[in-house]
Amino acid sequence: MTTVTRPPGPVTLPPGPTAPRAVQGAYALTSPLRGLHRLRAKYGDAFTVNVPIFGRAVVISGAAEIKQLFMSGPDLVDNQEVNLGRVLGPRSLFALSGEDHRRQRKLLVPPFHGRRLAAYEKIVEEETVRELATWPEDRAFATLPSMMRITLNAILRAVFGAEGAEFAELRALLPPFVTLGSRLAVLPISKKGRLNPWRRFERLRREYDAIVDRLIAKARADDRLDDRDDVLALMLQSRYDDGSELSREEIADQLLTLLTAGHETTATTLAWAVERLRRHPGVLRELTGSGDSKLLNATILEVQRTRPVIDLTARQVKQDGFRLGRWTLPKGYVVLVSIALIHDDDALFPHAATFDPHRFAGARPDLYQWIPFGGGTRRCIGAAFATMEMTVVLRTLLREFTLVPTDEAGERWHSRGVAYAPAKGGRAIVRRREGTA
Ligand code: HEM
Repeated sequence: MTTVTRPPGPVTLPPGPTAPRAVQGAYALTSPLRGLHRLRAKYGDAFTVNVPIFGRAVVISGAAEIKQLFMSGPDLVDNQEVNLGRVLGPRSLFALSGEDHRRQRKLLVPPFHGRRLAAYEKIVEEETVRELATWPEDRAFATLPSMMRITLNAILRAVFGAEGAEFAELRALLPPFVTLGSRLAVLPISKKGRLNPWRRFERLRREYDAIVDRLIAKARADDRLDDRDDVLALMLQSRYDDGSELSREEIADQLLTLLTAGHETTATTLAWAVERLRRHPGVLRELTGSGDSKLLNATILEVQRTRPVIDLTARQVKQDGFRLGRWTLPKGYVVLVSIALIHDDDALFPHAATFDPHRFAGARPDLYQWIPFGGGTRRCIGAAFATMEMTVVLRTLLREFTLVPTDEAGERWHSRGVAYAPAKGGRAIVRRREGTA
């Protein structure tokens, strides 16, 4: 029997703005979210843009197209060529595609689920209690720096297994390194020329590699390596299906990936949780009065729906004639899924602009519509870890403090490079509950 391969149909792209790339790029940089909302109002839930880094790209926010994209295999769509691997290293999960990506993911998923998560919960609670002890009473302050310290320390211990000198060195090195990396990942800055920020980035990377080498050497010499729960220890003991070990470079790139992807995203979501709760005293009262863990889960889901800290995730078309809904896209095209736009769709989330955790009470979200962690074969591998971490931090915070409500306007979205944070850092006024000092 002969099989007939159907030739790809003619390219059909959604409509979109016709302004030159530089103009669209400048607009995307200065007001990305407002721009996306305007384009959806004008063109509907799929439109074509032309911007630096991505080139001509299709932005989608319709539930059916997003589901179809996330369910398409890596032979049809996979990671985009220009990705965070530029800054995290060629072996980072973000940089890998196809079979290499699948192999690496298989080793990295187990540490973030089941029994391991319970072991990390204790670390998160310790770090939270330690940080909350420094909070001032009756005076407004930004909570984001605290959230960043909690999530950084938790990840350094849970992922790197770092203690002592290496812990202190990584704590000092990683924030400037990751901040610079986040900016370099999204800004079209050339690596050429002597006075460019890539030089500083490369110097910080060498320092990072030296610390990771020491951590690996210490772990290999550790008699109790088998009993350790940190991801570094698990990686050192993991074997691919053919029995080979992860290389030093793979371990270094992957640890940095986990930290970069996991630290700021979780901290900014927590700062948004504080920002949202202070503006919704009814929810705050219910949460503190009942200690209801289901309502706390629903609140976290609703914070992530209304304030997704990553607004876009990308895939690149790998075959000509890729059909997406009514459109046919050519190979090489980038498809950007707008997390912020689908979360704001009244047809999927009635009164979408209203913050109402009860919409999730007793119901699991549809994971192709509620997508703060992306979806499909590249869905965030830290989703369960992040949810555990946010639950522990908020539960501890509400147990130890009363969060004073406010009627101030909501904080604006502020782009930090990779993640969106509340512009004033999720300001809070707190009072310690009696008997918790
Ligand atoms: C609230 C916190 C977090 C948010 C909102 C978030 C969001 C995301 C999103 C949107 C993606 C892209 C998914 C896609 O393209 O479909 C992603 C990927 C990823 N995230 Fe997260 N993330 C969070 C926390 C974490 C944590 C705690 C870790 C690890 C400790 C982590 C590790 C990763 C990794 C490694 C990837 C790449 C997955 C792949 O390419 O296969 N994330 N995350």
